[in-house]
Amino acid sequence: MSHQVEIRIASNAVNASKNVASDFATALQANPKIVLGLATGGTPVGVYQHLVALCQAQKLSFRQCTTYNLDEYVGLGPDHHQSYRHFMQVNLFDHIDIPTNQTFVPDGVVNPIEDSCADYESSIKASGGIDLQLLGIGENGHIAFNEPGSDPKGRTSVVGLTDSTIAANARFFDSIDDVPREAVTMGIGTILESRRVVLMATGGNKAEAVARALEGLPDIDSPASFLTTRENVIFVLDKDAAAKLSDATIQSAKEID
Ligand code: F6R
Repeated sequence: MSHQVEIRIASNAVNASKNVASDFATALQANPKIVLGLATGGTPVGVYQHLVALCQAQKLSFRQCTTYNLDEYVGLGPDHHQSYRHFMQVNLFDHIDIPTNQTFVPDGVVNPIEDSCADYESSIKASGGIDLQLLGIGENGHIAFNEPGSDPKGRTSVVGLTDSTIAANARFFDSIDDVPREAVTMGIGTILESRRVVLMATGGNKAEAVARALEGLPDIDSPASFLTTRENVIFVLDKDAAAKLSDATIQSAKEID
């Protein structure tokens, strides 16, 4: 495995979430104008709850920061209840003091969508680049919607979702047929340019993807494994997500509770 990745293991998902939230809060306090990269899905919900609580207790302010989300489904507008813009409003933005025009989520309905991908990249650059990026990981090792086989240098683009990702995300929709087949996503290259990355994974269904990312060489079939090619990457795991790591990797990890 790479020695560059810092691995933290919590006994459960709540403690993993608190640890990630506390890293984000510290970074925001140190640099109120920080540019944050944010993720959707089940994993970061607890992180956002902790950040909302800190903001509502006036211990944290997002007023000057800027955020960029990783991805959005193609075809779902901001008002669609399963769009990632909607997810971010409901889980974070509506409850904190960030001005909406400082929150960026790729546009899933604009035409032509390819132009908006280039604009998203330009906007990130114009903001000075992402200082701290939050990631989840798919059961197949995807990061954002960069599925196995994606170009490790890829930039923001429109991509197809694999059957396993469609099946995993069907839990959020009325039926699997309602899950969009395409998404706009930051590329692996875009993500790797963030100054610091925190990948959070909880649950036994992520254990294999986590082990594949951290043990062995970077591999195009494991998009998250490219995170081991750089510094300033932290994996925050619960015990179940860490269950398939080798003994040597576990020994190099920090227990955080
Ligand atoms: C979400 C995203 C995805 C998720 C991943 C894990 O913005 O980019 O890569 O992080 O699919 O999803 P959950 O957290 O629902 O298991």
